[in-house]
Amino acid sequence: MATKKANNEVQQQLESVFQRFPLLLVHGIPLMEPIAQRWAEVENFEARPDDLVIATYPKAGTTWTQEIVDLILAAGDTEKSQRAPMQVRIPFLEYCTPPPLPSGIDRLVNAPSPRVMKTHLPFQLLPKSFLEKDCKIIYVARNAKDTVVSYFFFDQMHLMQPDPGPWNGYVTKFMEGNVPWGSWYDHVRCYWEKKANHRILYLFYEDMKEDLVREIRRMTDFLEVDLPEDIVDKIAHHTSFQIMKDNPMANYDTVPSTIFDRTKSSFMRKGEVGDWKNYFTVAQNEAFDADYLRKMEGTSLHFRNVLNSQKKFS
Ligand code: A3P
Repeated sequence: MATKKANNEVQQQLESVFQRFPLLLVHGIPLMEPIAQRWAEVENFEARPDDLVIATYPKAGTTWTQEIVDLILAAGDTEKSQRAPMQVRIPFLEYCTPPPLPSGIDRLVNAPSPRVMKTHLPFQLLPKSFLEKDCKIIYVARNAKDTVVSYFFFDQMHLMQPDPGPWNGYVTKFMEGNVPWGSWYDHVRCYWEKKANHRILYLFYEDMKEDLVREIRRMTDFLEVDLPEDIVDKIAHHTSFQIMKDNPMANYDTVPSTIFDRTKSSFMRKGEVGDWKNYFTVAQNEAFDADYLRKMEGTSLHFRNVLNSQKKFS
């Protein structure tokens, strides 16, 4: 009875503090107000040499990669990966909300080593300590068009993200980098360039969809974890879209409906490559491609199946 009352009180507190937060610029990158307000804590975060960072632009397959990494480090023990929801197992470094929920840093400071954490920070905003300690970073990139579609649905359901508004305007905001964590184009490019001088494993969502076992192997090699073939197969099976969709420790079902409005979308929405074709109009697609070519000029970073004309990238 007392627990129920306490839960109700927490629920009421949550309802009073949660809102769609505005974006504030932090070193030129739009971040949600509560993150910007506690930015000094993020900037001064003390890394440890054996920290592992999973870095992504939002909607690139972060949670998928988190689940895989957690299982790799547990040698495929699926019971162990049921110990807590994802946000507890692999905290979100910069994330914070007004109390009562703990921030990512609250969860991380006293966590035992080796710590694994998620971040959406662009490379230039990563706390310097990670680079000084030469921490390993797994970066996952997803093509821009599927990312913007996924982000649009996520922003509708996530009641702390800015209201996405209608689809047409949202595509423009995305192209301008006027969404939480800023420009997709700068994000994917910068990590791509920095991998030459830092311990960054750069993965693609599309490659994971194409051959998950192969990409899990790339992760085990990078993490220097030796796993037999059957365990890698087991991890691939356990992290398939359908199984993760039904796994409450991985699908964010534990997040209260005051934060995730599941009438708008589901976190495990479709998990496909090329879903953008169902949403982009011909005119939007042409404008997006022209802008894309300008923003991605000069990089050797290529995404598959995303432009109508791949000529400049072949
Ligand atoms: P969709 O909205 O296109 O379905 P993130 O974790 O970075 O927020 O990314 C969420 C996206 O990854 C969602 O994309 C989600 O469905 C997809 N995703 C999550 N787990 C997946 C899995 N096991 N296989 C394929 N896609 C997955």
